[in-house]
Amino acid sequence: MSIQHQIELAKKYLRYYFSAGNRHDVHSPFVFTLIEEVLSKKAARAAYDPIEALRTKLLQSRDIVNVTDLGAGSLTGAGTERKVSDIARHAAKPPKFGQLFYRMVQHFAPANIPELGTSLGMSTAYMASARPNSTVYTIEGCPNITAQAKANFAELGLQNIRQFTGNFDDVLPKVLQEVTPDFVYIDGNHRKEPTLDYFRQCADKASENAVFIFDDIHWTNGMEEAWKTIQDDERVTLTVDLFFIGLVFFRKDFKVKQHFTIKF
Ligand SMILES: C[S@@+](CC[C@H](N)C(=O)[O-])C[C@H]1O[C@@H](n2cnc3c(N)ncnc32)[C@H](O)[C@@H]1O
Repeated sequence: MSIQHQIELAKKYLRYYFSAGNRHDVHSPFVFTLIEEVLSKKAARAAYDPIEALRTKLLQSRDIVNVTDLGAGSLTGAGTERKVSDIARHAAKPPKFGQLFYRMVQHFAPANIPELGTSLGMSTAYMASARPNSTVYTIEGCPNITAQAKANFAELGLQNIRQFTGNFDDVLPKVLQEVTPDFVYIDGNHRKEPTLDYFRQCADKASENAVFIFDDIHWTNGMEEAWKTIQDDERVTLTVDLFFIGLVFFRKDFKVKQHFTIKF
């Protein structure tokens, strides 16, 4: 990421930080409950410990993997050989968000969780460990990274994860042929058109109670445009902007479309 891009992002974050609302600013009972029961329940839980112990191990790893990057990757362009420790530091969602996904999965109790972008499996592990009855269908383009994630899931004893290796373009339609997407996490190939394509494919098959999470909605102008198009989609009835991620809901009992920006 160039210095200029970092400065732009920091400015956007400051704007978010000083304008985002909290529980007192929302008039939607659904969003109020989401804030009270899920977003603000940030205290440590024993279930987080094994995943964070694994993250610490990965951050200290000296292993190197040969990486095939099918997505937008780093804006500066990453080489093909990468340290596992660098992937753990830069690609994996930080604990705060993984733990939010854990609480969201417990709260919404989805059956099927397609995830675009496994990487080392940190977010996958949080979602899978939240609810053994859910199945996470996680897709990763790089076979060597899939293998690393597989070993990580085995180490955590997680059995409700199905891994797929290949381009999202090829694999997502197959996953969606098999299952209804109840809870979708899109965290790879952060470009406008692919993001919108993944959104439309999932939204076409989603139930009214589905929850979609988009990563890096403010990362680039293209991602800002994608986020705006998603907000404007006629099926979408509610969005919640947490800056680094955006939540999307389709419930028909929200009579008027609403967009909230909430401090997280
Ligand atoms: C940001 S990382 C995912 C991080 C992970 N969700 C976490 O929080 O731990 C994105 C991953 O998506 C993969 N990816 C990007 N574009 C892809 C594509 N078009 N098809 C398949 N995989 C892709 C990359 O190889 C990378 O490992």
